[in-house]
Amino acid sequence: MTTLITNIAQLVNTRKETNLLRGTALAELPVIEDAFLLIEDGIIAAYGYMYELELKVPQLPKHIIDAHEQFILPAWCDSHTHLVFAKTREEEFIDKIKGMSYADIAAKGGGILNSAGKLNEATEDELFSSAWKRLEEAAKLGTGAIEIKSGYGLTAAGELKMLRVIKKLKEKSNLSIKSTFLGAHTYPIAYKENHQGYIDSIINEMLPVIAAEKLADYIDVFCETGFFSSAEMETICKAGMSYGLKPKLHVNQLNSIGGIESAVKLNALSVDHLETMTDVDITTLASSNTIGTLLPTAAFFLRMQYQPARTLIDNNCAIALASDYNPGSSPSGNMNFVVALSCIQMKMLPEEAINAATINGAYAMELQNEFGSITIGKKANLIFTKPIPSLAYLPYAFGNNLIDKVMIGGIFI
Ligand code: NIG
Ligand code: FE
Repeated sequence: MTTLITNIAQLVNTRKETNLLRGTALAELPVIEDAFLLIEDGIIAAYGYMYELELKVPQLPKHIIDAHEQFILPAWCDSHTHLVFAKTREEEFIDKIKGMSYADIAAKGGGILNSAGKLNEATEDELFSSAWKRLEEAAKLGTGAIEIKSGYGLTAAGELKMLRVIKKLKEKSNLSIKSTFLGAHTYPIAYKENHQGYIDSIINEMLPVIAAEKLADYIDVFCETGFFSSAEMETICKAGMSYGLKPKLHVNQLNSIGGIESAVKLNALSVDHLETMTDVDITTLASSNTIGTLLPTAAFFLRMQYQPARTLIDNNCAIALASDYNPGSSPSGNMNFVVALSCIQMKMLPEEAINAATINGAYAMELQNEFGSITIGKKANLIFTKPIPSLAYLPYAFGNNLIDKVMIGGIFI
């Protein structure tokens, strides 16, 4: 099917070719005002100014949509989520309101261990159907490509169950999904005093099955005081890499314990969180190919300091924005709010935030050839806004639903 969209107020993030954006390039967001967009079989086939329409599309298709006053953006690329989980955790939310910290809750068996207990009791079907609803909700909010992690199993059976659920989501969803194995999310109670025993289980029990069944694209480790050290992270990543899984890592959320340096040495695709960054961490990241993925809604929800986005950008780091959708630290997959928060609290410019949540997010999932910009040959995963006065209005008018429609693969959802 061929669809022509005409009279687009602004067509946002139009690029002939793309690069991972860093430093000042992040603020350059190409737009075309009064634009058209042609979609053939779900793929972007042509675009340009309305005055070029006759030249670029000599024969108009039957199916034409008038997008008068609407802005069209590439759908969000959410490169870090944990959206497969068994139960929400509002009771911990209340504990936090009453004064407990995230670390206090984890120490008394809450947090990730709480989710792991529930996940191991849930069936694959139950997990699939709740995750499917969350995925559909995220799509309605404009997300067109997404990464999903395991990490609430912490047993071979539980981790494999989660990864099989993600595989089924990949098969059934129109969204593009990448899968990450996060067996090293925390030490399960049974291995509290026997870290090597759990690392052995990850390496010898879980990874061979994951590789044989092609259950994951990436490997992740939560590198943090009280969780996995940077040396443990290196051991686990090297085992994953021997099966072709690139590292995509949780580092520097609560402490700086050498995670960035190790991740860069491992040539990690991304280092995610980054609330706590030293000067050395920043210069190490800046001089690498690793993407720094900022998760501002986790900092917001946990009432922590935000990621130093301005310093990272000014030091030439490549950064992406993601939702961290999970029941403990970010129970929302709303990328519109992620973009708004990054402008409001981290002083990112709207252009920087939109680039970080689209094209750089696509790079952080190695999906840059298909998603993240309006480029001929890429998939037509698009956000159609309601009439808005400017692009900056999107993060400015935070919390309002400014999305009119979302298109995935050329079809409105
Ligand atoms: O990315 N920090 C580690 N993992 C998740 C939170 C997991 C949880 O609390 O359930 C995160 O924030
Ligand atoms: Fe996370």
